[in-house]
Amino acid sequence: MTTPPCRFMDQYPEEGRDPVDVGRYTSNEYFDKERESVFRRKWLNVGNILEAPKPGDYFVADIEILNASLLIIHGKDGVYRAFHNMCSHRGAPVAWEKKGSCKGYLACRFHGWVYDTTGKLVQISDAANFPNVNAEENGLTAVHCDVWENFIFVNMASEPEETLAQFLAPVSDEISRFDFSGFTPAFSYRIEENVNWKTLQEAQLEGWHLPFLHEKTLARAVKLEGNQYRHAGIELHGLHGVLGSPPPDSFVPPPVAELASRFGTGTVQAFGAKLENKGEGYRFRGSFDFWHIFPNFFVGLLNGLYFTFNIWPVAADRSVWEIKGYYPPVNNAGELFALEYSKVGLRDPMMEDCYTHELISANLKSGAKKHIHFQDEEILARHLGNGVDLCVRGLA
Ligand code: FES
Ligand SMILES: [Fe+2]
Repeated sequence: MTTPPCRFMDQYPEEGRDPVDVGRYTSNEYFDKERESVFRRKWLNVGNILEAPKPGDYFVADIEILNASLLIIHGKDGVYRAFHNMCSHRGAPVAWEKKGSCKGYLACRFHGWVYDTTGKLVQISDAANFPNVNAEENGLTAVHCDVWENFIFVNMASEPEETLAQFLAPVSDEISRFDFSGFTPAFSYRIEENVNWKTLQEAQLEGWHLPFLHEKTLARAVKLEGNQYRHAGIELHGLHGVLGSPPPDSFVPPPVAELASRFGTGTVQAFGAKLENKGEGYRFRGSFDFWHIFPNFFVGLLNGLYFTFNIWPVAADRSVWEIKGYYPPVNNAGELFALEYSKVGLRDPMMEDCYTHELISANLKSGAKKHIHFQDEEILARHLGNGVDLCVRGLA
């Protein structure tokens, strides 16, 4: 029997075609291996420089799977650094708010030890009563930190196996052609879900479900062949990858979306526009491109805006989904209306996704099925699981 040609599986035969073991989503032992072989080894995005734009600004990033709460601080010298948010005296947090700004020093609220923005312990309160404590040896505990474009990454290994530049080399040149300047943080969502982190991501790694699950929200803004969604393109780049959403032949936005689009960036431009690839700039595959940076970061590039997802494992069946939109600055009420409309336009399909994720997770735990399946258009979802499995087996 000959198998019919498949666009992506033929191009990437190493990804395989077999059913996938449900244990990858439900097993606590497998989750423990993911913790050590993926999250304690790979570079992880923890935020955007726009979240701490000025020297002295900081924010706290929690990586629950590693029991780590990190202080990301924009140093007075302009360098972004990451530390465990933990005072060297008795372990209290140094920054108590999730986000803030300091004049160059952070004082622990418990007993007042003071650190500068390079993590140095510069004052021990009641120092004479700590005769054996050497300030130079008791700065904040640093975590490897580096910045690429607007994105701040950390690596939780004691010695990273590769630099951030090496880690991102398969995708960085191309994504960097997108002009990330001129945007501001426009909105964010944080969703806690009872779902495995890979199930959550897989729904973002394929558009094939759009005409089904998102029939009433997103389906009208993409081109369908028959009643099936076909990606404008899917490419695998090392452990990372990208999918392009197909621009529709014609797009009639709902009346409110049409009104919003007259005032500013939003749903119509994001999902309905056909983009021209001009000059040396970024080359769009479709009406928008969705880059997956292994293991849990997404950068969605659109016409006039971008957004990011960070999908954090908490337990085998619990995850956090952080969604952040970056738009041009808003200058008037009309632009604010367009922004708010766009924000809500994104929220509705996300809710459709979230509800489905939790139902899937509950079903997978039932033990009724031993395997699930991925088709050709779902190859990026398969690729994620394969990449994780390579790490778990010590091969990546
Ligand atoms: S725990 Fe920070 S000064 Fe005591
Ligand atoms: Fe979806």
